[in-house]
Order: sequence, then structure tokens, then C-alpha cells
Amino acid sequence: MLNVSDNELLTRTGPGTPMGELFRRFWHPVLLAEELSEPDGTPVRLRVLSEDLVAFRDTDGKVGIIDALCPHRRAGMFFGRNEECGLRCVYHGWKFDVHGRCVDMPTEPLDSTFKDKVTIKAYPTAEYGGCIWIYMGPPEKQPALPDLEWARVPDSQRVLSRWLQECNYMQAVEGEIDSAHVSWLHAPLQVEASPFRGRFNDAIIRDGAPQITVKPTDYGFCYGARRDADNGEYYWRVTQWLLPTFSLIPAHGFPRGGRCWIPIDDTHISVIQYNYHPERPLTEAEVQRGKNSPQIQPARYRLPDGVTIDICRDVLNADNDYLIDRELQRTQNFTGIQVIRTQDTAMTESMGGIVDRTQEHLGTTDVAVIAARRRLLKMARDLEDGVEPVEALRPEIYNVRAVDMVCTEGDFSHFMDLYAEEAVGKI
Ligand code: FES
Ligand SMILES: [Fe+2]
Repeated sequence: MLNVSDNELLTRTGPGTPMGELFRRFWHPVLLAEELSEPDGTPVRLRVLSEDLVAFRDTDGKVGIIDALCPHRRAGMFFGRNEECGLRCVYHGWKFDVHGRCVDMPTEPLDSTFKDKVTIKAYPTAEYGGCIWIYMGPPEKQPALPDLEWARVPDSQRVLSRWLQECNYMQAVEGEIDSAHVSWLHAPLQVEASPFRGRFNDAIIRDGAPQITVKPTDYGFCYGARRDADNGEYYWRVTQWLLPTFSLIPAHGFPRGGRCWIPIDDTHISVIQYNYHPERPLTEAEVQRGKNSPQIQPARYRLPDGVTIDICRDVLNADNDYLIDRELQRTQNFTGIQVIRTQDTAMTESMGGIVDRTQEHLGTTDVAVIAARRRLLKMARDLEDGVEPVEALRPEIYNVRAVDMVCTEGDFSHFMDLYAEEAVGKI
């Protein structure tokens, strides 16, 4: 459990909060490049770390992410005209470029210099790995982009999807580094016959109490979940957690990947899921699976405070109880929810916007969850004391892989010594 103040510290990422300041030292992927594919196309509304923003691609193909509201009298820039290398507010015609400079102010006299004094908030952006990234921290602290293998492969070897989740980022991160739930939440019933069996390993189904060991690393940590397999062997799943919110999930072979969980605000997340193959283009079937279609659909989403953002939403969501089917739950799978990803969403959203961690009772399989909280809390406190997060400044440490393997080695540190090469990215 956490006390009230640590839970607040962990979960609040708005401007001026300690965790918000920490997050602002990292680059974050906030949109898929395909969401802003056209020069001079339709802008996209987003909220990142509780700041309302608008993204647009200008005539030259450059991406700007600027304040959602015009600095003149605060009209919505989303409704602007995206034309001739700038976004022009349609209320009185003020126009801004991707750097936030006011490049036209037609309501002022021709000889006025007022335009040179007005800017709109604009953040540095980058296109990388099929995503639009944003850096929202102090300019002098801006790091290089992280060396993530999924982002470095050619576009044809990667598939991405992005959707909304309605809870605090940390609930989702904690679900991602919790190998024990896989044997329960995602379990098929009637093991051999079930269509929900999918890629489930027998050991996952049989051993629902994995032994978990955390190994802190420069980029976050990896942890090994060891389950008993046949013939005295062990089934190891090594999950990677990369600061601040990236995961790499083990699976047998490629394509595989993970997710990152970017706070929209303290009770909503923009999730980006990446699947990739390091050696070959993905097949059409792999692309369709990775896009989560047809469950993930484009939506205009009105946040509780009335601000609208543009983001895909799962058609199985809290409004319809994720279409839980009790007959399916009796006969086919553990949850009665059809889609594995949605099973995770249902659990983390069911905790509420920000879970009250003073009420929880953590068990032996929660060691990775505890380690992640401690690491983030320490980093946020360190930054308050003037200690910068070195994790953000070393892009090369992010080139790692999850590991999925059956072998006779039962000790995690020996296992990681033996199979160190398996945990390194090759791109
Ligand atoms: S409010 Fe945007 S130009 Fe006046
Ligand atoms: Fe899961």
C-alpha cells in the first residue's frame, strides 16, 4: 500500500507537480504519424500531462504541437485554417507557425510590431518510429530520443495503434508489470478446446503463482517470472519496464512488442501499442491484429471538464461493461470479456480514476509493482532536490528486449547471465 501523499505524488502529472516535472524530462510519443498524415490537413486535439494542445502538419510537412487556445482571446485553434506554413485562428485571423511564432496579425495596423511580441506555447516535436513525439521540459534539458528497437525498424516491420483508457497511467503500468494476472485474467477454460487458448503456454495456464524476481537496470528494471514447466524445466517470462512508461512484453517469437502509457491527465491515458518484427515486414494478418481492429474506432471524446480530444476508443468500454458475456464466462474464459487487451482495461478502469492505494493488500507476486512505484517516487523526489534523471539522458540504454524461454536454470540472475544476448535489441 501507499500512504495518501505518496499516492498523490505518484499519480499527479500536471504542470508543476513533482511527477509532472519528472515526466517532462522525457520524450513521449503522443500521436501516430498516420493521424497527421496530410500537409495542411485537419489538426488533432490532444491533452498531454494535463495540458490542452493542438497538433498540425504544415505545408512543408513539419509537425507543430501548440496551445489548444489562441493567445488573442482564447478561441480554439482546432478550428483554425491550416494553410501556408501555419495554423490561422479563424476568430480574427492571427496565424502561428510550428515554433509558436506569430507570423500574421491582420487585425493590427500594417506598421504594428505587436505580432513580434506575441507567441503561442509550442513544444519541440519529432517523428520517430511511426509516432509523433513531444518534449515538454526545459529547453536546455532536452535529451535525444530513446533507442527503442520497435521504433528503429523500417515502417513495414511495425504496426501501431493508439486508444483511450479511462484511468490513471500508473494503474495501467502496474498491470503491465504484473505477470501473475496472465494465468487468471486472461485464462481460457476447458484448456484444449477453448478458442481463447491462443498463444498461451501450458505453464502459464498451470502455474498461477509465478516466482518473480526484479533486476533494477539503468533504464528501469526487468523482472523474471518463473513458472514450473515439464521435465524439471522452468518457463521464464522476462518483462522489461523502461522509464517512465514503456513496456516490452515477452511472447514466443516475433512479432511482439509492448505499450506505452502517456497521461492525458490524471484520470485518462493515451495508450500506444507497438508490435514489430526485427527481421522482416509484417504480414497483412499481423498488421490487422496489431491494429486491434475492428474494436478500436476513431472517436471525438469529451473529457469530464468539457474539453474534446481526438482519439480512438475501444467499442468494448465501461459504458457497456465491456460487453461482458456471463455465459462465455461460465464456459469459455475466465472473464467473459472477448478481447485480451480489453480484459486488462476492464480491470484497471474498474479501480476508478485514481485507485486508493491505502486500501490495497499487496502479495508476493506484486514485487515488480512495488519496485516501479519506489523508483518513480525516488526519481520525482530527487528531481525536486535538483538531481536530474540520468535515464532520460542516455538513449542507448533503451535498446533491450523481453525474453520468453524454457530452460533448466532456476536462478534469475544466472538466467540473465546465461541469456544476456537474448535481452539486447539487435537493430
Ligand atoms: S481569438 Fe484567435 S485571433 Fe482572436
Ligand atoms: Fe494482461
